[in-house]
Parts: sequence; C-alpha cells; structure tokens
Amino acid sequence: MPLATTLDVVRTARDDGYAVAAVNVVDDVSVRAVVAAAEQVSAPVILQTSVKTVRSMGSALLASTVRTVAEAATVPVTLHLDHCPDRDVITETLNAGWSSVLFDASDRGYDQALLETAEVVAEAHALGASVECEIENITGVEDDVGSDEEMEPYDVERLVHFAHESGADLLAPALGTAHGMYKTAPRLRFDRARELRALTDLPLVLHGGTGLTAEDFATFIDAGVGKINVSTALKLAYTSSAAAYLEEAERTGKHEPIKLLDAVFDGVREAIAEHLLLFRCEGKAETTTPRSAS
Ligand code: 13P
Repeated sequence: MPLATTLDVVRTARDDGYAVAAVNVVDDVSVRAVVAAAEQVSAPVILQTSVKTVRSMGSALLASTVRTVAEAATVPVTLHLDHCPDRDVITETLNAGWSSVLFDASDRGYDQALLETAEVVAEAHALGASVECEIENITGVEDDVGSDEEMEPYDVERLVHFAHESGADLLAPALGTAHGMYKTAPRLRFDRARELRALTDLPLVLHGGTGLTAEDFATFIDAGVGKINVSTALKLAYTSSAAAYLEEAERTGKHEPIKLLDAVFDGVREAIAEHLLLFRCEGKAETTTPRSAS
C-alpha cells in the first residue's frame, strides 16, 4: 500500500473508539518489526522518527526504507516526524515525503508559536501532509528534544483557540504523561482531555505511552485520544534483545550479526504487538482507507 495520510487514520480511529499507535523507529530493523507487529494484529500504524533518527539515517534513506516496507505491508502505514522545533528539518522531511509532522513550538511564546505553526500548516497541507501542534511542554527529554521542567499549561479555551487559528490537524496537549519511564505514578489529566474534546473536533494525541495501564489507555481513548506515542518501550525491547543475544554469543563463541538483527526484530515486534492490543486497534486495518501522501 502507498503511505496513508496520518489525519485519515487518526480521525477514523478517534471516531471509531480506538487509537493508532505512533511508534518511534530508529532504523530499518525497527521499521520492519513495528510493521510486522501491526500486521500481526491487523492494525494501522504510524512510524515516527525523531529529529535524531532523521540525522542518523538521513531523510532520503529513512523515507525510502519506510516507503518500501509500507508498500509491501498489508496494513496502512504512515510516516510522522516527532517533536521538531527546527523549521529546516520540517521542510526537509515534508519534501522527502513524510505524511505528517509535529511542529513542537513549546519553546516559543504564544504569538510566535501561532505565526510559525500556521506557516508549517500551509507548507504541509500544500504537500498533502498533516500537522500535529504542540505549545505545552510534555515533560521528559525525547531524543535530545524537550525538558524535564513542568510548564504551566494554557487554559483549555486558549489552547483550542491556538489549534483552530493555526489550522493544525491534531492537538498534542499536556495530559499528565511524560516521556521515558515513570519514577512516580503520573497524575493523569483525563478531565482535561474530556474538556478539550468538548471544545474541538481535532483528534488529541497522547505522548508518553510507555508505562501506562490498559485502563489508563482506555480512559484516554474514550476521552478523545486518537494517536498514542510509544518510544521508550521500543528502545527497551531493542536494547534488551540485543544484550540477550550478545550474552549468548559470548557464551557459545558464535557471533552472527544476522541473528543479532533477528533477535532485535523479534523483541521489538513482540513488545509493540502487546501495546497495540491495549489501544483497541486490533482488526482495524480494514476500516482505514489509505491515500498517497505525496
Ligand atoms: P515514551 O517514550 O514514554 O513511550 O513516549 C513517547 C513519546 O511520547 C514520543 O513523542
């Protein structure tokens, strides 16, 4: 299938009472493993890349890898740029065929953020891509972007006004979650998600998807969340599978890179398939109509 449109898959999910997983991939092995997990449960999936991954692999190789895997996939796949405050990287990835971008303007004041988000929306929409907007910081540093400091969130009315004025397609608000592993139980803002849902038809995006319970996810989905981001779970599965293989290689004296990659693939596929089952998206691949993003 050609790459699908992020807004289409997320809006369909939100309207149908489930969420699409947006998983941060880091290379070709994780791209294949996440798509295999989505195929295993027959769910649409969003492959996300941090700016760090774009720099590590290069946008051309990353886009062509995702496109090749997506074209052979039996489920809708979209390619999204996660937290990006850098306008040059936004332009580079949109031109390379990304389906959507998160323009992270949480480091700008309200007026500057609005001006620039509207510009990004115009640029993305001209290429058939969607835009997730963010002006509140979601705590935790994700691949070198973000901060551990909590910022005072905006009033929900002002936040929705921002999203509507900017023309963005998806809204990423602060909902009490954080990137990375939780050291203490998070204070989740289900009510805030419900208040936002009452004020806007824009699908909400939940960041910090690693470490929440099935009930937490269900409550957020019922409150209007249509996209749930998962990164740390993949990083843990990736590195622990690699470590287990390397330990075995040391013990047996057999060092096979392909077997190392297979171990990583299996570990990531299993971890992500488990998450997908929590988002009620099992069997939903059929209901999402793919459309080319380029
Ligand atoms: P986790 O690292 O907590 O899974 O969060 C991922 C995320 O929100 C990426 O934007």
